[in-house]
Amino acid sequence: VGHGSLLVVGTGIAAVGQITLEARRAIEGSDSVLYLSTDPLTREFIEDLNPVAVSLDGFYEAGRDRALTYAAIAQEIAREVRRATRVCAVFEGHPGVFVEASHAAIELVRAEGHRARMLPGVCALDCLAADLGFDPGPWGCQSYEATDFLLYPRPFDDTTPLVLWQIGSVGVFDVPARPDHVRRGLGALSDVLARGYGPEHRATIYEAALLGICTPRLEGVRLGDLPAAAVSSVSTLFVPPARAPELSRDMAHRLGIDLSEAARVEEEAMHLLGGEVIRGQTPAGAR
Ligand SMILES: C[S@@+](CC[C@H](N)C(=O)[O-])C[C@H]1O[C@@H](n2cnc3c(N)ncnc32)[C@H](O)[C@@H]1O
Repeated sequence: VGHGSLLVVGTGIAAVGQITLEARRAIEGSDSVLYLSTDPLTREFIEDLNPVAVSLDGFYEAGRDRALTYAAIAQEIAREVRRATRVCAVFEGHPGVFVEASHAAIELVRAEGHRARMLPGVCALDCLAADLGFDPGPWGCQSYEATDFLLYPRPFDDTTPLVLWQIGSVGVFDVPARPDHVRRGLGALSDVLARGYGPEHRATIYEAALLGICTPRLEGVRLGDLPAAAVSSVSTLFVPPARAPELSRDMAHRLGIDLSEAARVEEEAMHLLGGEVIRGQTPAGAR
């Protein structure tokens, strides 16, 4: 049984301001810290918290497939856990959301009998919910990695918001992405989405602010115009519903819900909020 332990933490999306207290304590209290961050402020912050911190950025080689980079990073973290006692691995955003290396590292070190745990962080979807005023609870939420969404087509539902991650690298596996490959990927994505929603349906290209004092990028785009849109490695696409979901009166009856009373309460709440607020809560006035 191994004696090492691994804590995997995230720094949030906006530099420094979104790191949790427990993630901060994990960085401070570890014997070894390995981190991945492209942001100079975050790098400085981590190195100030713990001067032994070492960047993993050197693992990114131009032209190398992302999956190979992540495997090499996971191996490096596991090597460090064999060597040091308490290791902290730091990633951007939530360390378990679209971070293959973190999950792989945890599996590797657990398989060798060491302790490993992930702490949650603020991810891009959290920022999107805040900046777009979108509530994944009542509205529901479909969320896919954009390339995966195209390669493994799943039926999607145009009454529920759709979030697509990594639209800046659709079908592109090497870094940096070639611009013609990015356009080719966006073209395919535009075709598939336009078939479901129509080319006139408007989505939002979202980029959370990377500094607390900056504003996020929220750019409306017709699905048909997606191939020409400006996207980057931090772009996420939010596609609002095209129509409201249908109410099942049979189910309401079975659940004992009095629909006229529910409508009356909603009307009263709307009145209290000054008219439009409740209605505005659902995307594109969908409900
Ligand atoms: C490799 S994933 C990393 C996700 C990250 N671990 C998180 O917790 O959000 C990269 C993708 O996350 C999303 N993302 C990262 N930073 C973002 C930002 N500032 N604004 C919007 N989306 C972002 C984009 O879809 C981007 O292509």
